[in-house]
Amino acid sequence: MPEKNLRPTGFGRTAGAALLAGLMIALTADADAPGPAAGPMVQASAPIRVEAAHAAQAGAQQPQAAPDPVAMRRGRILFLQCTACHSLKEGEAHKVGPNLHRVIGAPAAHKPGYVYTDSLKESGIVWSRENLSRFLADPFDVVPGTAMAFVGIQRGADRAALIAYLEQETR
Ligand code: HEC
Repeated sequence: MPEKNLRPTGFGRTAGAALLAGLMIALTADADAPGPAAGPMVQASAPIRVEAAHAAQAGAQQPQAAPDPVAMRRGRILFLQCTACHSLKEGEAHKVGPNLHRVIGAPAAHKPGYVYTDSLKESGIVWSRENLSRFLADPFDVVPGTAMAFVGIQRGADRAALIAYLEQETR
C-alpha cells in the first residue's frame, strides 16, 4: 500500500489541533460578548476536547510502548482497511463491526451492545494472537457464516504487524 495513506491520519490530527485552537480563540472572544451565540459554541467544544485528549494520550504512549516502529507504521496503514467497520478505543461506538478495545486475549463475541452472528458467538474462539492471525487471513474459513465481510490479509508479516498495532492501540 502506498505511503500516502499515512497522510490523512497525520493531517487529521493537525487539522484537529488547529480547529481546537481556533475554537478556543473563538470561545475566548465570545466570552466578552454576551449573546445567544455563546450557547452553541460551548457545546461544540465538548467533543473536540475529547479528541484532543486522545491525541495527547496517543502521543504520550508512543515512545515507551512501541515495540517496533516499522511494524507499527505498517500496522497503522493496514488498519485503514478495518476503520470503515471498527473503532479501537474504549467507549467508542460500534460501527458495522464491534468496537475492538482490548480484543486481544478476549473471548470472541463478548462486546456488550453489539449483535454478533450465532456463528461467531458459538465459535468458542479466544482471540489469542494466533487465532486472530488465522481469522484475519481468512475470516470465512475460520468462522463460516461470519458477518465480517473482509477478504483477508495474505501475508503473515502483514498480519503480525497489524496485530502488534492492534495490541498497542486497543489496550
Ligand atoms: C466490512 C466490514 C468489516 C471490515 C472491513 C472488517 N471487519 Fe472485523 N468484523 C466485522 C463484523 C460485522 C464483525 C462481527 C462478525 C460476526 O458477528 O460474525 C467483525 C468482527 C471482528 C472481530 C471479532 C470481534 C469480537 O468481538 O469477537 C475482530 C477481531 C475483527 N473483526 C477484526 C477486524 C480487523 C483487524 C479488520 C481489518 C483487517 C476487520 N475486522 C475488517 C466487520 C468488518
